[in-house]
Amino acid sequence: MGAQAAICACLIVFVSSARAETPYRFFDWEVTGGDINPLGVRQKGILINGQFPGPEINCQTNDNLIVNVHNRLSEPFLLSWQVHVTHRYTENGLQHRKNSWQDGVSGTNCPIPPGQNFTYRMQAKDQIGSFFYFPSLAFHKAGGGFGAIRIHSRPGVPVPFDPPADELTVLIGDWHNTNHKSLQAMLDSGKQLPSPDGILINGKGPNGVSFAVEEGKTYRLRISNVGLQSTLNFRINDHNMTLVEVEGTHTVQNTYSSLDVHAGQSLSVLFTANRPAGEYHIVVSTCFAKRALNSTAVLRYAGSSVPVSGPPPEGPASGDFDFSLDQARSIRTNLTASGPRPNPQGSYHYGSINVTRTIRLANSAGRVGGSKQRYAVNSVSFVEADTPLKLADYYNITGVFRLGGIPDAPPARAAPAVRSEPAVMDSDHRSFVEIVLENSEDSVQSWHLDGYSVFVVGYSGIYASCSLPHAYNVTTTAR
Ligand SMILES: *[C@@H]1O[C@H](CO)[C@@H](O)[C@H](O)[C@H]1NC(C)=O
Ligand SMILES: *[C@@H]1O[C@H](CO)[C@@H](O)[C@H](O)[C@H]1NC(C)=O
Ligand SMILES: *[C@@H]1O[C@H](CO)[C@@H](O)[C@H](O)[C@H]1NC(C)=O
Ligand SMILES: *[C@@H]1O[C@H](CO)[C@@H](O)[C@H](O)[C@H]1NC(C)=O
Ligand SMILES: *[C@@H]1O[C@H](CO)[C@@H](O)[C@H](O)[C@H]1NC(C)=O
Ligand SMILES: *[C@@H]1O[C@H](CO)[C@@H](O)[C@H](O)[C@H]1NC(C)=O
Ligand SMILES: *[C@@H]1O[C@H](CO)[C@@H](O)[C@H](O)[C@H]1NC(C)=O
Repeated sequence: MGAQAAICACLIVFVSSARAETPYRFFDWEVTGGDINPLGVRQKGILINGQFPGPEINCQTNDNLIVNVHNRLSEPFLLSWQVHVTHRYTENGLQHRKNSWQDGVSGTNCPIPPGQNFTYRMQAKDQIGSFFYFPSLAFHKAGGGFGAIRIHSRPGVPVPFDPPADELTVLIGDWHNTNHKSLQAMLDSGKQLPSPDGILINGKGPNGVSFAVEEGKTYRLRISNVGLQSTLNFRINDHNMTLVEVEGTHTVQNTYSSLDVHAGQSLSVLFTANRPAGEYHIVVSTCFAKRALNSTAVLRYAGSSVPVSGPPPEGPASGDFDFSLDQARSIRTNLTASGPRPNPQGSYHYGSINVTRTIRLANSAGRVGGSKQRYAVNSVSFVEADTPLKLADYYNITGVFRLGGIPDAPPARAAPAVRSEPAVMDSDHRSFVEIVLENSEDSVQSWHLDGYSVFVVGYSGIYASCSLPHAYNVTTTAR
């Protein structure tokens, strides 16, 4: 229902500003600490305008999003957006676009100090699909502060499926009953992160949410894994799902009875309420976790008084890497459908690109500064400099960060020590770089590749961020 209303609102804005600039959408957000108890344990959460999860952003391709965020927490706060963060400016009479300085990643974007506010200005340029925003510092994500982003196609742009009766947002993720500050303290004292305590669906525990549907109608679910680390399998009892979109790319429309959603990943499926009217289990369960967890929600057909019954459907065997990888490999871009392309003008022939540099990146856990538990890339753990990197770069201030601080390959030693510095990797404008992500640790890792010309050339070809079971490589190309 919400989605339909939002689509109408988009249409009205579009029509009234036809031929003018693309619409501006203004948001005023207050970030506060507040009590939540998603799994029956009261804890301090992070709320946006009093909500957990935070408010949903509904917009349309090329919309300008102006989000004024007021930080009422006692710590610096930074939001990361999975929107193409494009900033337009004019210099010497020419239009330029910048794309990284408001992306909400520590190092290129300063956090908002406690008690202050900052206005993020973004444009969903050439973008469609399902995404989310999340806090990117200090384990705040373990307390909330995340929410869904829907970017609808502009009217007239063909979408490769019929409009669904409704769109439903499903934010799934692992959850700790431990306050995010206590989790920070554990890492700072050298301890590992404990196993999660449960799984949340739209901020609620088992059977905390129900989704209402009408018999015979088709619905779009926009599913995002907003959790910290667990890969989650998603399924609906007795209902198959047709995958139609992964992170802004329309896919070949395969049918699945269950789907793995990795930490940080978003996708859209269609399903038709074509079973006998009643209530059905929706199940989310961990895939490779040391301690298996699951949770349920209810799919409720309108007018049905038959309560949900029977055991929830079992998923694939826990730890079945082959199932997960085969499924990932089955996901393909629909090359004839509308949507953003890595080479919108067809100007690059990827088969004949001369890759000028290959970077191998490996993740490793280790201790820095004596006792703190941190993660490192090629044995370097990033630490914030006193001077923001973008300012140091702009004003040519030397000694703030070191270019080439992260080597192009992991150190040869088996268990390399972790060091921390404000290390920066440089690359040449418009060069093509092949990045091999290597995971030789014994747990699944997720990488967030921030920037919009990154796409997977090995593996399944569509992930902007993906998880790697141990001992697997993914090759991506960045421009
Ligand atoms: C802070 O918010 C006020 C309105 O509440 C606004 O006028 C001002 O521009 C904002 N400042 C920043 C840096 O975004
Ligand atoms: C791909 O998109 C086209 C254009 O909308 C559509 O006709 C076709 O059915 C889609 N193909 C698959 C395999 O999903
Ligand atoms: C789901 O799809 C599988 C494979 O195509 C099929 O065997 C099964 O009957 C379908 N289940 C439902 C409930 O439609
Ligand atoms: C969910 O977890 C419980 C408790 O570990 C287990 O007994 C049950 O089989 C699991 N259900 C599913 C559908 O995975
Ligand atoms: C790659 O290099 C070859 C040989 O130098 C050149 O002929 C070719 O045009 C280059 N390809 C591209 C896409 O630049
Ligand atoms: C920084 O250095 C570059 C080239 O070395 C120069 O073009 C630029 O104007 C300098 N910026 C400032 C703010 O001095
Ligand atoms: C991953 O890539 C590295 C470097 O290219 C290679 O040495 C290694 O064998 C690859 N591992 C797997 C499992 O493919």
